[in-house]
Amino acid sequence: MTSVLYRAPSVTYPKALSARGMYIRDESGKRYLDMSGGAAVSCLGHAQPDVVAAVRKQVGALAFAHTAFFTNEPQERLARRLVERFGDPGARAYFTSGGSEANETALKITWQYWSARGEPDRKIIISREHSYHGNTLGALSVSGNDARRRASAAPLLDWPRIAPCYAHRGRRAGESMEDYVDRVAGELETAILAAGPDRVAAFICEPVVGSSLGVVAAEPGYLQRIRAICDRHGILWIADEIMCGMGRTGTFFAFEHDGSRPDIATLAKGIGGGYQPLAATVLCGKVAGTLEASGFAHGHTYIGHPVACAAGVAVQEVLDREGLLARTREYGQRFGRLLEERFAGHPNVGDIRGRGLFRALELVADRETGRGFADGGRLPAHLMRLAMDAGLICYPGGIEVDGAFVPHIMLAPPMILEESHMQECADKLAVVLDRAFDA
Ligand SMILES: Cc1ncc(COP(=O)(O)O)c(C=O)c1O
Repeated sequence: MTSVLYRAPSVTYPKALSARGMYIRDESGKRYLDMSGGAAVSCLGHAQPDVVAAVRKQVGALAFAHTAFFTNEPQERLARRLVERFGDPGARAYFTSGGSEANETALKITWQYWSARGEPDRKIIISREHSYHGNTLGALSVSGNDARRRASAAPLLDWPRIAPCYAHRGRRAGESMEDYVDRVAGELETAILAAGPDRVAAFICEPVVGSSLGVVAAEPGYLQRIRAICDRHGILWIADEIMCGMGRTGTFFAFEHDGSRPDIATLAKGIGGGYQPLAATVLCGKVAGTLEASGFAHGHTYIGHPVACAAGVAVQEVLDREGLLARTREYGQRFGRLLEERFAGHPNVGDIRGRGLFRALELVADRETGRGFADGGRLPAHLMRLAMDAGLICYPGGIEVDGAFVPHIMLAPPMILEESHMQECADKLAVVLDRAFDA
């Protein structure tokens, strides 16, 4: 019997007891290879000694001092680091405890920015289908993940959504990639014009879509076109890098791949590496300057938490010292090659994709047509169970396409993984796929 309301109340979860490096152990002693860092969280693996020591030291020195009264050194240091990475000296960082809060903060920043600029009617946030920006009401309102929206039963705001940049399924026969990118980016302009350009506040998207689509990176040129359209209409671009940022794709911010920069970027997951609940909203100098002049009405009890930010600083130090961005690029390529070698011929693998240490297998009922599974909505939970049985932590999800369900398995391993972990992962995945599709 439990007194906990579980995430999925009908599931019986093993009790995690300890973790080290690439593995989590449950109370029965069973070991699980963590190939998704939970949900792209544990970027340094488990029990990284320097981060553990930094957290311990900070708790002893200063566990909490409310930000209404004080600032603290860890948040100052971490903000300096993020602003440097963002590449705009006037930028600022605001620290919360999770991705949803970081996106809610981005929305509050956006609306207050427009109010301060004398355009309070700019309220509409345009987003994309098959996106997830969090479970709080604002963040879920701008999410295009229909399953999560429906399941929440919440009275959500309904704003325009455009198609994602998902060439594998969205590109028409005979359409060049450039034309495709023009067409899907152009949907933003159409949506802005339809909503009324002086009523639109911002556009939000994940530069590399995580769990909602299964690691789908924007095609080259897409984000630059998005930047240009936002600039043309004066609206803000928010890049949700909660899953794909913090080095996961081999650059600190995922948007760097396309040589463009948003007005606001949100980070979570890897920024605290799982050692503390931590998220950040980074806003460009233009927006920060306006809010610093006009004021900013927002806040939570735990913003800028010293221990969370101390963990964040320590994660950054390890990232630099161990050269983990370069390692992510190198091992990401190796991992991508291994997944191709092992699964490209599998009858139920329709696509293998990703960037850096952010990868996914898309699963289909028919490789020729790319058709998904009729009544396949339960496949992600089933795949997760099979993986856990095999001692593998991965992150299954999926979408509806033409009335069938297309599942995927997302992999976002700690950046410290070695060749042996990739092999072990591939062996275990092969068992999972056999068991799932032989049945
Ligand atoms: C892209 C993206 N945005 C926002 C969130 C919400 O973050 P959190 O669960 O920390 O609130 C998630 C969580 O998975 C995410 O993947």
